[in-house]
Amino acid sequence: MGNGMFLTEEEKKILDGEFGETLQKVMKTVVLYGQTFGAKRLVKLDGPVHLVTSFGIPMLTPVFEMMEELIKSNIKAREPFTVDPRPLDYRNVPVSIAKKLIFKVMYGKQKEYEVQLKAVGLKDDNAFTCACYLPEVGNIPKKGDILAWAESSAVVYANSVIGARTNRNSGIIELMSGILGKTPEFGFITDEGRKATWLVEVKTSNLPNPQVLGSAIGMKVVEDVPYIIGLDKFLGLGLSDDTKDYLKDMGAASASNGAVGLYHVENITPEAVEMGRNLLVDGYKSYIIDDEEIKRVINSYPVMWKNINAKPKLCFIGCPHLSINQLYFWTERIIKALENIGQKKLKITTILCAPPDVIDAFKRDEKTYNKLIQTGAKITYICPLMYMNNPLCANEAVITNSNKLRTYSTARFYLDDEILERIVRGY
Ligand code: F3S
Repeated sequence: MGNGMFLTEEEKKILDGEFGETLQKVMKTVVLYGQTFGAKRLVKLDGPVHLVTSFGIPMLTPVFEMMEELIKSNIKAREPFTVDPRPLDYRNVPVSIAKKLIFKVMYGKQKEYEVQLKAVGLKDDNAFTCACYLPEVGNIPKKGDILAWAESSAVVYANSVIGARTNRNSGIIELMSGILGKTPEFGFITDEGRKATWLVEVKTSNLPNPQVLGSAIGMKVVEDVPYIIGLDKFLGLGLSDDTKDYLKDMGAASASNGAVGLYHVENITPEAVEMGRNLLVDGYKSYIIDDEEIKRVINSYPVMWKNINAKPKLCFIGCPHLSINQLYFWTERIIKALENIGQKKLKITTILCAPPDVIDAFKRDEKTYNKLIQTGAKITYICPLMYMNNPLCANEAVITNSNKLRTYSTARFYLDDEILERIVRGY
């Protein structure tokens, strides 16, 4: 073991089993993972891990057994960590008895798994969200921090918007890394791995929808690193809260419609501000996105509904999870749209998904929260994709403004204005 990889004396001792068999297995797993990607050494983590596996699916028996072994050996992550959203919230996302029965089978181990997560170092009961980097949640890396995260939308945000350094690790590898406080050095952790191989030029007449722009970029560059120019014209220089929200949604779409783990945006993201076009490698490829290209991308999305003329039953907004600004944005838009046509309630059940800590903060503004709830809209902490994984839910006509949800489920994608029109008028 350790072949081709330099290990410190302490790491060698762990690998030789001097600190017990379980820690030995943890080290062996991380070293093998690093070797697969040609890493030469392990480097120290600067912040907590974020886990992608947040759901208690009974068939993941090896995961539960592994967790049990860690717990019995008193092994936990060095720093309290966060994890992806919970799958179920019957209070805010009510389901039929039939769906509930299926969910019981699908996520039958949820309670037990959450107990295990806590025992190995989960931060707290609210630590379930894919947007762990939001201020209310608090797993906020700094520029240059080395991390080991796995959730694709969080990885691309941490790398690009924050300028931290994490590979998109396989699930469970991030937990192993959190236990050791180390991760193999390769890919986005190295300067070389952060260079851009694509120049993406945004030449649209208006700011494109972030979910569509991210989708276009992801489908074109796939897993490469793009250097995006032309967005500062619309978003301004640097990172305002609105720009962060825009990039959060754009990045999630690029990571799911392709496999982008890092992008740079000229005059906006930290490394692009620092190094500019020096981030581009020689012989980079080019991609121009204009109004026509945006239209072409939207028209390329297949509709997965059985009846494409069905009336939508449900609408999900907030994949990835909404920031508090986005919750206010949607609240204002929904209330205004209803007022404009003299209507009190939404016609389609609309679920806004956000981190538990963000929901708590929003609820403290009782007046606004109550106004939103009176429209019939609900706020939940679940991951809508885990809801859509239930075959009975997948059979229903669900609409969303999330390109990630569209990609991985039967939900139908609409732009924000179209979504608003539909939830208010019911078609
Ligand atoms: Fe987050 Fe689930 Fe969407 S983890 S990005 S809400 S698919």
